Amino acid sequence: MDTIVIEGQHDLKGSVHIGGAKNAALPILVSSLLSDGWNTYTNVPDLKDIQSIIALLNQLGAQTEVEQDCVGINASGLNVFEAPYDLVRKMRASILVLGPLVARLKKARVSLPGGCAIGARPINLHLKGLKQLGATIELEHGYVEASADRLRGADIYFDVVSVTGTENLMMAAVLADGVTVLRNAAREPEVVALAEVLTQMGAQIEGAGTAVMTIKGVSSLSPVTVKIIPDRIETGTFMVAAALTGGDITILDCEPEHLGAVVHKLQSTGTTIDIQDQSMRVRGSGEIKSVDIKTLAYPGFPTDMQAQFMVLMSIASGTSVISETIFENRFIHVSELRRMGADITVSGNTATVRGVGKLSGAPVMATDLRASASLILAGLAAEGTTAVSRVYHLDRGYEKIEDKFSHLGAAIKRVK
Ligand code: UD1
Repeated sequence: MDTIVIEGQHDLKGSVHIGGAKNAALPILVSSLLSDGWNTYTNVPDLKDIQSIIALLNQLGAQTEVEQDCVGINASGLNVFEAPYDLVRKMRASILVLGPLVARLKKARVSLPGGCAIGARPINLHLKGLKQLGATIELEHGYVEASADRLRGADIYFDVVSVTGTENLMMAAVLADGVTVLRNAAREPEVVALAEVLTQMGAQIEGAGTAVMTIKGVSSLSPVTVKIIPDRIETGTFMVAAALTGGDITILDCEPEHLGAVVHKLQSTGTTIDIQDQSMRVRGSGEIKSVDIKTLAYPGFPTDMQAQFMVLMSIASGTSVISETIFENRFIHVSELRRMGADITVSGNTATVRGVGKLSGAPVMATDLRASASLILAGLAAEGTTAVSRVYHLDRGYEKIEDKFSHLGAAIKRVK
């Protein structure tokens, strides 16, 4: 497996282009299953998770064509209703095919995703909602088996805000008979992006971006051509990199509107952020002030930025309290950051980070996507050399991250 080696404390200056959002692209590529004919998606990031979802769509009988950042998908030949363990275990978001398969083929057999490094991550809300839409659900041999001759609109309440849960049920409800109401729906920009694509396909959806969505079922949807929105987590990661290194980075082709909480918190640390339409110039100051954060569903502070922000707090001037309220085990980066000299104690879902003057480079590894990004950031700020191994996770969600940092002046390379 590849390792990324970083010689820390180089000035980061210049501009970086942000790619399409992984978490928007995944459900949008899956939405192709809801129509017949060629859909065209542009600004699709070149990532392992995207390759995994395309492999799954192929397996289900869809035709796909990939040319650079443009992906064509035609699901007219959709004829397989099973998403096998081998594909689902690589990526939990594969569960997104469940709703569309039941809506189109009247049945689905999807491997249960299981837990992952950051927590148990159940799919009970996806299943409860599908049942309310009239599907029969059985769990057999590690698979969810769902069937419904016809899905019917229902009034569905989410006990917990779930991003892919909202997306899955939205994709099931667009072709159901009658009206579906999703209460306590996720408001993430990626959910809104999916709703916009479905609407463009002919779906009738109101309230996307609010906690109550109303979906009036239609009999069929048409193929579309759409551009994937910019990745707000990649954007946030480069913002933290500028703050952390005292750098001056202009982030191009991003959507500042989607980063309200991150912008606010970074400004409170003393970072200067100049916001333009689709770009941001982020300048770190000499001294980083400590601030507390609590991860929440959107528009709260994103859990996918928690690890990166913790690195910033580890070299800040005071003490920061970081509360993780979305996932139960999302502090796996802490022990690695401690090996680099960070002073962090964890109690339950709260980490107390006492800022130390500097981090010191070390060999480290991580077992989840955002934790890997945080270790790259730590390496950029640390004195000496940091080698981040198991970058498999990083490649699931960041496109050419070492090239982008290298272009900004970092001493960073990938070693096979
Ligand atoms: C999505 C994102 C992920 C992000 C997360 C939270 C994608 C592909 N991934 O993951 O990057 O970190 O949102 O913003 O978009 N839960 C249940 N039952 C369910 C579903 C979820 O209890 O049926 C719980 C989860 O365990 C978790 C919380 O709800 O504690 C939020 O999870 P959810 O929003 O579903 O995360 P994902 O959609 O998997």
